[in-house]
Amino acid sequence: MKILVTGATGMFGGRVAEILTGQGFAVRGLTRSERGAEKLRALGVEPALGDLDDPTSLVAALQNIDHVFLVSPMDLSVGERESRVIQAARSVNVRHVVKLYGAVRHRGDRLDLSHQASIACLRESGLPWTLVSPNTVMESNFFPLAEWIRAESRFLGSAGEGRVGFVALDDCAEVACRVLTSSGHEGQNYEVTGPEAMTFAGVAEAFSTVLGRPVTYQDLPEDELRQVLIEVGAFSEDEVEVAVLCHFRAFRRGDAELVTDVVPRLLGRPATSVLQFLQKNRDRFS
Ligand SMILES: NC(=O)c1ccc[n+]([C@@H]2O[C@H](COP(=O)([O-])OP(=O)(O)OC[C@H]3O[C@@H](n4cnc5c(N)ncnc54)[C@H](OP(=O)(O)O)[C@@H]3O)[C@@H](O)[C@H]2O)c1
Repeated sequence: MKILVTGATGMFGGRVAEILTGQGFAVRGLTRSERGAEKLRALGVEPALGDLDDPTSLVAALQNIDHVFLVSPMDLSVGERESRVIQAARSVNVRHVVKLYGAVRHRGDRLDLSHQASIACLRESGLPWTLVSPNTVMESNFFPLAEWIRAESRFLGSAGEGRVGFVALDDCAEVACRVLTSSGHEGQNYEVTGPEAMTFAGVAEAFSTVLGRPVTYQDLPEDELRQVLIEVGAFSEDEVEVAVLCHFRAFRRGDAELVTDVVPRLLGRPATSVLQFLQKNRDRFS
């Protein structure tokens, strides 16, 4: 059995490829660069040089592949890029495609429409498929705050009182690996969350507990946060919308207040809590 991981040098794909290789599975990883290929070889992953924007390279990367873990960068090209992989996978009769989606209810915003285009292509392809849908990931939410927390013991956001079922990357990656390497998952959408849903003020309390000093959360109106990110973070308008604001809008609406039993059910252990995650990564914020 051979598994192709797209986005294999990125956050989700990298961790999935690493776990699968550690479990002894044969993994091929898609990357655009020789540097990415070197990184993959170091993990024991067979690199395939290719580009999600180049269909010919995808057909070549899919030769002799049984299962695909499908992930592409978080931008408005998700639908187009992933549809190219699905069409190429169909042309070589792949057995199963596991697509990374999301559990936060984005309610048809531009990022969600792009994912929906990929899912529609998957359903129409006739290929067996499964969705692995992390609620928002702790690494993506908390690691970018590290510099602020170290320097000022505070962080900004625009989540209001919305509760969020943050999930750790490892929990999502282990679920994806289980789905890729065992049977009985076809047609499922596994929404992967942590064990609790908490507000950003609750996250600040967890930081305070772990770091042993007060850490505060400052909630800003969306327009003010947009200004800060464009001025300080050097984001473009499009990036700020797709990478940050559409997520905070969903958090504020309560559309990330989700706790599922997917991690205990599939992995036979509890999901990682925010407190456990921050304790494990304490040095990064100290
Ligand atoms: N963060 C969250 O909380 C969360 C939650 C749910 C779902 N998601 C979904 O997760 C996905 C993003 O995953 P990620 O954070 O793992 O992405 P990532 O870290 O940005 O990695 C994406 C990888 O894709 C590769 N790539 C970029 N452009 C490419 C192209 N044209 N052709 C081939 N490969 C290309 C890059 O590898 P090379 O440079 O080596 O080519 C890169 O390492 C999005 O679909 C997002 O909606 C995220």
